[in-house]
Amino acid sequence: MFEKKNVEKILYGGDYNPEQWPEDVWQEDMRLLKQAGMDIVTLNVFSWALLQSSEEEYHFEELDKIMELVQDHGMKVCMATSTAVHPAWMARKYPDVLRVDFEGRKRKFGGRANSCPNSPTYRKYSRILAGKLAKRYRDYDNIVAWHISNEYSGACYCENCEKNFRLWLQKKYHTLDNLNQSWNTAFWGHTFYDWEEIVAPDMRSEHFAEDRTYFQPISLDYRRFMSDSMLECYTLEYDAIKEVIPDAEITTNLMDFYKTLDYFRWAKKMDFVSWDCYPENGQPYARTSMAHDLMRGLKGGQSFALMEQTPTVSNWLPYNALKRPGVMRLLSYQAVAHGADTVMFFQMRQSAGACEKFHGAVIGHAGTPETRVFKEIAALGKELKTLGASTLGMRTRSKIAMLFDWDNWWGIEFSAGPTKELDYMAEFTRYYSALRNKNYNVDIVSPEDSLEPYALVIAPVYYMVKGDNDERIRRFVRRGGTFLTTFFSGMVQENDLVTLGGYPGKLRDILGIWVEEEDALPPEQDNAFCYRGKTYPARILCDLLHTETAEQIDEKGYLSDFYQGFPVLTRNRMGEGCAYFVATSSGDDFYRDFLRDLCDECHISPVLTTPEGVEVTSRCREEDGKEILFVLNHNERPETITLPRDCTDLLAGIQIPAGEVTLEGYDVKILSFQTSEA
Ligand code: GLA
Ligand code: ZN
Repeated sequence: MFEKKNVEKILYGGDYNPEQWPEDVWQEDMRLLKQAGMDIVTLNVFSWALLQSSEEEYHFEELDKIMELVQDHGMKVCMATSTAVHPAWMARKYPDVLRVDFEGRKRKFGGRANSCPNSPTYRKYSRILAGKLAKRYRDYDNIVAWHISNEYSGACYCENCEKNFRLWLQKKYHTLDNLNQSWNTAFWGHTFYDWEEIVAPDMRSEHFAEDRTYFQPISLDYRRFMSDSMLECYTLEYDAIKEVIPDAEITTNLMDFYKTLDYFRWAKKMDFVSWDCYPENGQPYARTSMAHDLMRGLKGGQSFALMEQTPTVSNWLPYNALKRPGVMRLLSYQAVAHGADTVMFFQMRQSAGACEKFHGAVIGHAGTPETRVFKEIAALGKELKTLGASTLGMRTRSKIAMLFDWDNWWGIEFSAGPTKELDYMAEFTRYYSALRNKNYNVDIVSPEDSLEPYALVIAPVYYMVKGDNDERIRRFVRRGGTFLTTFFSGMVQENDLVTLGGYPGKLRDILGIWVEEEDALPPEQDNAFCYRGKTYPARILCDLLHTETAEQIDEKGYLSDFYQGFPVLTRNRMGEGCAYFVATSSGDDFYRDFLRDLCDECHISPVLTTPEGVEVTSRCREEDGKEILFVLNHNERPETITLPRDCTDLLAGIQIPAGEVTLEGYDVKILSFQTSEA
């Protein structure tokens, strides 16, 4: 990332909106941002209406001035294209830019992320604007990155979308016969005789809630189509910039595990991944780590940009708690610990009006650097200078991969039955958190990624097995890998049609089991099972399975109900490796104990063993044999850890001998080890 742009440290800065302020404020901003140790601003995120006042008239003079000012102050720029909000005049003149919502209501101008992704007007003018910006600012060598639109999101159900959906389907299925078969349209008399008969599946059609549908295959394809439609908008701008600046580094800011866009597909078209990290009050730290690991996984382990975080407070939560002293620094380093090469904020100067006026900022309404927040930011700025290039581009080495898949997510949650408690993210988080809380490095990858580097691959609720992905897992296991999956797996293929012949379908021989039935438990009801002498709860869904070639590894099966004694945990040996099956959802203790045993068996060690709440990750660089440990104390109280070897404390600039080290509450240590000769 940014290798060609002479970047020699973690870039520090964020969203800056000088267009909201008179020019005399700009000078003061520059002074304060420099004082805070900042070196990058993201400009022009929401300026389309200012840049283009009518179809023919563009005004770049103000942006020119801002660019000059920023350059004069030696700041780098992340240049946004402004296309997340179309101008009001455009909506009035060309209503096709306005979305139709899920209820079928035509939207009016207002809000943001409000343009129809299949609007010919939106596509035309957003592409033109991106091209014009690229031409105008191509010679600024302080532009290190281009930032297309902002947080793509939502969906549209207008006629243009419907038309393009039909074209998308024609490209995918070629014939209506094929589509009818692939969607099982004989069900409820849905046979289509003409492409024009197919409509967008919204509340007027197949849906009775956003995630509830009578006809999963069409809803699933509409999700894929919407994600692709927005990606096409992104790609139009991407290409327009690349045409002018072939070596531009281009991104768009992603949002955590955002359900409606398939980020694995998006990342293929991004030069680097960037994302906006806004943990909710009290969010467990492992949940935030999980999002960082996804972002790193989207592009095969490449470092990513932390594009936005709040310096202190958000405005969109029901209760917007302040980040406690030290927490902004802690969360910044948490991003770096998981692969970020930038630390950036929303926003530089706190806006005076509209819905974000109470959102935290580097420079608050008082306009003074004499604030707690500013001082913490400036202190971090200093530290990042000290760190220099030492962490840039470092990779994370992990022997564990977790498979994540958007189609699987959509498929599971569109499902009518067996239980409304099916929650892919929750199940995934249970496994991830158990590993993260014990300081195992985890990669999050797509089922299409290579499994070669891993010893253990975990695919919680792997409901939809697409294409030959089962074969990839089979090969992985045969060659000595350990695979783990759970209840409600292997049920369907890519169009959500059940794989006939017994669950878990294409995974059946790998797991050596046959699942005959599945029992859904209401939230207040548990079953239970025993593993290595301890009893754990069985919740949500209980698969009733028969072992074929697998062996049962829990002690007594389910402990109650008519399926008492049916196996809960199984292991199947295949080739050099084996595959585990966990037939139900359980509690945190179970995941902690079971995954620890599995890691031991696979000879995978945690980065470091620490007290609860102290997170440790590592990044390394093969070329010079450097390994860096990030030790993050998420607790308010001091904690003591034990270092196995001598190392260098990069923030303090001192050598530390092996042995005990104490971290204050919320403190961070960045420790460098030499693992081998360079
Ligand atoms: C998002 C957006 C920003 C801003 C912040 C506020 O991340 O990209 O423009 O609205 O949220 O938290
Ligand atoms: Zn539309």
